[in-house]
Amino acid sequence: MRFDIATLFPESVDSWLSESVIGRARAAGLFTAECHNIREYTRDKHRRVDDTPYSERQGMLMQCEPIYRCWQGICNMTRSQPHVIYMSPQGKTLTQQRCRELAQLPHIMILCGHYEGVDQRVLDRIVDEEVSIGDYVLTGGELPALVLIDSVVRLLDGVLAQPDCYEDESHYSGLLEYPQYTRPEVWEGEAVPPVLLSGHHANILRWRREQALITTAKKRPELLEGQDLSGEDLAIITNVIGSFDKK
Ligand code: ADE
Repeated sequence: MRFDIATLFPESVDSWLSESVIGRARAAGLFTAECHNIREYTRDKHRRVDDTPYSERQGMLMQCEPIYRCWQGICNMTRSQPHVIYMSPQGKTLTQQRCRELAQLPHIMILCGHYEGVDQRVLDRIVDEEVSIGDYVLTGGELPALVLIDSVVRLLDGVLAQPDCYEDESHYSGLLEYPQYTRPEVWEGEAVPPVLLSGHHANILRWRREQALITTAKKRPELLEGQDLSGEDLAIITNVIGSFDKK
């Protein structure tokens, strides 16, 4: 899988993509990421990439031409038409399900906006999808782009030690993760749940499901709506939150 990131801060993005799990996966060739400085694509002699909006609003907007030429450069260089994502608080909020879908794509270009935004015409021309990382506004699209790349790359084959690293975790199955424990068996008078020491695989699996349901019902009950729940699941949830209307 390949990412091309169009940004005004290529060094910051690149440096983050060179660290830790993601950096090791990149060095091992499990994915490719190249950062492109949008400023390199301006024809302006002062290397300007922004100008004032026609709407008489305060602030500056990124201009069409450098972004369009950057996109053309990426298409020509890679001989491919990437799926283009513009990171924006107006986009659809990123979910684990969407990360799984994006992880299937061969080539993604991410456009990171800055200043007060980007001229709509270039967005209309090149962008396939706007993605938000939540209902709040950041100063630029770089951190959201890194959030997206991190959450997609960790799903690629070989990046995490074992697939069940993520198959059991929060949001994968639509539920939050069950609580986890490690040594010592007793800490400050608090013991690890005995079933986890029993070695009884089926009971441990049942406990995990039960705890995932209880955690979800307590912390994010809205995630249970639309879940495929058995009678046993419903009984567990009802115990926690009184009554539960399956929608
Ligand atoms: N750019 C600024 N704020 C953003 C957000 N919440 N999500 C994605 N991109 C953004």
